[in-house]
Amino acid sequence: MQFDTIIKNGTVVTASDTYRCDVGISAGKIVALAENLNTAKEIIDATGLLIMPGGIDSHVHISQYSGDGIVMADDFASATLSAAMGGNTTVMPFCLQQKGMTLREALTDYHALAKDDCHIDVSFHIIISDPTSYVLGQELPALVHDGYTSVKIFMTYDGLRLRDDQILETLDSARKSGALVLVHCENEDVIRFLIARHEDNSEFAPRYHASSRPAAAEREATHRALSLAEVVDTPIVIVHVSNRQAMEEIQRARLRGSKVAGETCPQYLVLTADDLDTAELEGAKYVCSPPPRDQASQEACWEGIENGTFDLFSSDHCPFRYAAPEGKLNAKGKENFRWIPNGIPGVATRLPILFSEGVGKGRIELNRFVALTSTNHAKLYGLYPQKGTIAIGSDADLALWDPNKSVVITNDILHHGADYTPYEGMTVQGWPVRVMLRGKTIIYDGKHVSEERNGTYLKRQRSMLK
Ligand code: URP
Ligand code: ZN
Ligand code: ZN
Repeated sequence: MQFDTIIKNGTVVTASDTYRCDVGISAGKIVALAENLNTAKEIIDATGLLIMPGGIDSHVHISQYSGDGIVMADDFASATLSAAMGGNTTVMPFCLQQKGMTLREALTDYHALAKDDCHIDVSFHIIISDPTSYVLGQELPALVHDGYTSVKIFMTYDGLRLRDDQILETLDSARKSGALVLVHCENEDVIRFLIARHEDNSEFAPRYHASSRPAAAEREATHRALSLAEVVDTPIVIVHVSNRQAMEEIQRARLRGSKVAGETCPQYLVLTADDLDTAELEGAKYVCSPPPRDQASQEACWEGIENGTFDLFSSDHCPFRYAAPEGKLNAKGKENFRWIPNGIPGVATRLPILFSEGVGKGRIELNRFVALTSTNHAKLYGLYPQKGTIAIGSDADLALWDPNKSVVITNDILHHGADYTPYEGMTVQGWPVRVMLRGKTIIYDGKHVSEERNGTYLKRQRSMLK
């Protein structure tokens, strides 16, 4: 049989198995996994390399409307290129419904932003900020039917936060229509109270972002979200979990029989609140919510990665430029932490950090790495087995990793739109040296080697979490 491409001499790693074989690719699909394949237009030698499913980052913010003159640092071209540089082949950004908009209107805007610009495949979660009866009763069921099978809701942030009755209505509608709901769990009233107290004490530096959003505010909201989901019997995903207390809420809910998935992110493994505590305004670079916490929380999150509390490891890439009036150091943000836009870049660094700190340091097996960074995202968000695995018939979305390549992370190698990385100077061992989207090499040896932007929009099935 003549293939388009054969990858020879590598080690295939999936969420369940590690084995030596050649990979035969035709028309963008994996069509053979066998020894001694040998007729193809292109033969790639993967000696010494691991062949893994391309990363799926199911939590990224791209070109999301931020208001107040604040602008995200990435558009779809730069974010998807940066994602590919870091070994990803699919990203799932958020489409924000602003108040007063229909979900379809929001989708029209985001599709226009993404159109023809994506280097890798893309699929949207819809942020519901205005859960009217039309949105929940009419739009959501129709959108699930059309392949938009997940939504995110917020318990914090002005203009986004839903009240408990709105959360219940949204969860109930999601259960009926088959949408999976991601929940940002922080108690907004606690945060507002603590911000006001800091302001009364003339405490305005970036470090007060962390102390105004304590673990108790995250724990309480996590407990409430899980309780509300239990009342209406709806599966949920608790996103960007930062500490043990929130993890314990997830564990307890599972013991009660709830269907809940947990997600954590690199910032909760390698950053702490001390990173926000700088003499000048540098701490603004690390402002995100929930904030990075302390070393004990890092250790707890590692435990969660190892013991299955977390199903997903995502970046929560939400990039703003640091030294820019539309970014972290906007005029009001320079004066008061509450106006520093929340979010940090990380779509390119997610996989190398987990590989190096997790696999390299013996905390997790390679197969668990693949599950946490690709397969579970595909399963939870309705893309499996087209994406997230190496199997006959799956898309040939692959990342070829050199497990021994040592790289010092610097902003210039990441190709995102932000003017910094929170991980500047960190040495990681293990790097994706070739990234293939549907059988075509797009990144080779740290360089972007395809002029085309072949990323497509992915309609999704319903979640396997039900
Ligand atoms: O600070 C963060 N995480 N910004 C992104 C928005 C969100 O809550 O995910
Ligand atoms: Zn969030
Ligand atoms: Zn986010």
